[in-house]
Amino acid sequence: MCGIVGYVGPRDATPIILAGLKRLEYRGYDSAGLAVVEADGTIGVRREVGKLNGLVEMVAADPVSGHIGIGHTRWATHGEPSRRNAHPHVGVTGEVTAVHNGIIENFLPLRQELEAEGRRFDSETDSEVVVHLVEAYMAGGADLEVAVRQALKQIKGANAFVFLSSREPDKLVTARIGNAGGITVGVGEGEMLIASDIPAILTHTRRMIFIEDRQLAVVTRDGARVTTLDGEPVATELYTIPWDPVSAAKGQYRHFMQKEIYEQARSITDTIRGRARLEAGHARLEDLELTLEEAQSLEKIIIVACGTSAYAGRVGKFIIESLARVPVEIDYGSEFRYRDPIIGPNTAVLAITQSGETVDTLAAMEEARNKGARLWSIVNAIGSQAMRISEGYILMHAGPEIGVASTKAFTASLVDLYLLGCYLGELRGTLTANDLRQRVDDLARLPALVGRVLGHGDEYERIANRFHDREHFLYLGRSINYPIALEGALKLKEISYIHAEGYPAGEMKHGPIALIDEAMPVVAIAVRDHVYDKMISQIEQVKARGGIVIALATEGDEDIGGKADHVITAPPTPRLLSPVVNVIPLQLLAYHLAVRRGCDVDQPRNLAKSVTVE
Ligand code: AGP
Repeated sequence: MCGIVGYVGPRDATPIILAGLKRLEYRGYDSAGLAVVEADGTIGVRREVGKLNGLVEMVAADPVSGHIGIGHTRWATHGEPSRRNAHPHVGVTGEVTAVHNGIIENFLPLRQELEAEGRRFDSETDSEVVVHLVEAYMAGGADLEVAVRQALKQIKGANAFVFLSSREPDKLVTARIGNAGGITVGVGEGEMLIASDIPAILTHTRRMIFIEDRQLAVVTRDGARVTTLDGEPVATELYTIPWDPVSAAKGQYRHFMQKEIYEQARSITDTIRGRARLEAGHARLEDLELTLEEAQSLEKIIIVACGTSAYAGRVGKFIIESLARVPVEIDYGSEFRYRDPIIGPNTAVLAITQSGETVDTLAAMEEARNKGARLWSIVNAIGSQAMRISEGYILMHAGPEIGVASTKAFTASLVDLYLLGCYLGELRGTLTANDLRQRVDDLARLPALVGRVLGHGDEYERIANRFHDREHFLYLGRSINYPIALEGALKLKEISYIHAEGYPAGEMKHGPIALIDEAMPVVAIAVRDHVYDKMISQIEQVKARGGIVIALATEGDEDIGGKADHVITAPPTPRLLSPVVNVIPLQLLAYHLAVRRGCDVDQPRNLAKSVTVE
């Protein structure tokens, strides 16, 4: 979805904004632009459709520079991707410009009113309305800050903005209403930055202030003054982000997704570190702020999440119910608030969200809070909205995930869910000290198993070469690995545009079996576990109908080669941790198929990293 970058300070804003937008490319966009107050005091704007390189070339051919500016990557909602619909928008006087994330729900009546007053609009966007409003208030004598406050009183919907005026070329005014993505103010040395996402400005500073719902900040090179939209001063907290800027770069890898897949032995080690206490033989999650009494009185956990995070939640149900014997429900963020969920005083709602900014998940959290649930989250983005509104949280510690298709954040969530299961199991007395020690030991061995599965390279390329022209895939798994079948199918469709369905294997005979033929490969997760025989029988049913089977099997399984057409392997792994290991071959399979089809792996069409619209 749309990305925002702003700069004010002694350096030239243009390269800083362009580099920041480059780091936001992963969010998904279809056009980009920037606006800078130039030496002659006018606002110079450059906007281009398509990839950011187009804007970079435009700026190289027709340079623009200055010490204050704003930039934007747009993901079209109102009006096609085009130069005139790209941000920043400029009003009729050329003195006010703005970038915007979100949707102005009442833009049409506002636009009609402004047009009736004689204002001419240049674009089809909802965003331009707010520029005209601010300009109109400034024409009436208000300064930029006051004009923004007045304009925002008229706006409905979840929105984030940054405004700049050539009349006051020393400040940016930024504001946030609702959950249209974050606004982060980066505190540098004698310079300040603004971004919708931390990686955009991480090379300049790690010190960040997060702008909350209904807050406004006036940002100059010396600092930020934060108030509510009504003008009440707000005491802000300065967060120091531990992420290393290098971890947000591609390094020697061809794609971020590839890098992130191969990082998983390390990222899982980071997720475990400090939480799985090997000598003591237990797990600790201090940021969850959970008391013994709360753990023991817990009657239900409802996991809310979207996409890949929701599949992590489905695995979490197996893990938590098994270790802590608490019933777990799982719902999509987009569905939860529309079903009048039953929440008692001893219900915890656990949101899982890599970005911490997914609007549907945030809305579900809000619904849960209003109904009196205890609110927890598993998040990767430190300081994100989901983390801030939770009573307790568990960080993924996966590091920045740039590829739109989530990989290392998925496995980190699974590890967090396992840690939560162990922690709750101990507090609720459902695990003996010996069980717990065994579980924690298993976890300590996980990074080595992940490293081992990542060591198998060529087989995925071979399979990709053989099947890259197929249009349909079916993924089957059972028990705790059935959500992994769903995740494998999601990865494939996201990045290769091959239609793929994931199914609990036992359901195949209730419908999808009609699809089986020699054109549709079936990926079957058939590792040696308690449902191995059942999976073998599914494979036989597929083969009996002339289907092609790619089996994910346990290393050393000699028998399966006689049944499946192709075999990829994973090391034997304790059952509750096996999804972490088993998903990796499916990530690699999707990756190699997408590369072989020539797809844009890191920025698949129509997708965005943070989905900040409903
Ligand atoms: C994952 O590959 C997808 N891009 C998508 O399903 C994602 O998991 C979903 O949008 C939820 O994102 P979140 O974890 O940031 O909330």
